[in-house]
Amino acid sequence: MRIFLDTANIDEIRQGVRWGVVHGITTNPSLVAKEGANFRDRVLEICDIVDGPVSAEVTATDAEGMIEQGEDIRTWHPNVVVKIPTIPEGLTAIKALTDRPDPVTINATLIFSPNQGLLAALAGATYVSPFLGRLDDISHDGMAVVSDLAQIFRVQGIRSNILAASLRAPLHVVRAAKCGAHVVTLPFAVLEQMMKHPLTDIGLERFLADWEASQAEAILQRV
Ligand code: G3P
Repeated sequence: MRIFLDTANIDEIRQGVRWGVVHGITTNPSLVAKEGANFRDRVLEICDIVDGPVSAEVTATDAEGMIEQGEDIRTWHPNVVVKIPTIPEGLTAIKALTDRPDPVTINATLIFSPNQGLLAALAGATYVSPFLGRLDDISHDGMAVVSDLAQIFRVQGIRSNILAASLRAPLHVVRAAKCGAHVVTLPFAVLEQMMKHPLTDIGLERFLADWEASQAEAILQRV
């Protein structure tokens, strides 16, 4: 399983890459708007930092507009993945952009049911992105969509990647990994939380205190 960061913030991306565990980035119009950056410039800046897939979303809602934007976005950088909403017009665009000699890599986004994920995969999406947290927000079991998709793709031999998105907590990551998600995309805060354990901090503090005490003792014995 790979970890992507779900952010357009450069400092967060640099830190995640420095830790050696971030292998891609997902953005969406809300995340880019939050940074106040020019869309294309920010995507290119991210591509300079991360050597992996970087999702950039179309904003058109008709197939022709999505295809036009997708064809443009794919020229920005070889690692750019075109993100397309999973609506009927989106399926047409996914099919048109992938069923060609030079297929565009697509991340089908805004997936809230196994059927939407299945359709996006059948249309040609490389990544299908179920939004777990937003389903949990309305008292539906978001993880069930990941689990169902993992089973469907396994049984049917479908090669699209399940990219679990809208994760809100470290336990979401554990459960998505156990369900068979190929990728999880996380807010930076969740990545930080994944590493936190009070016993690690207490244990390190104790090791260092014992080490310091032994060094002081050794100095005393030498004098
Ligand atoms: O990648 C999808 C993600 O950005 C949605 O997350 O937290 O806005 O539901 P959230």
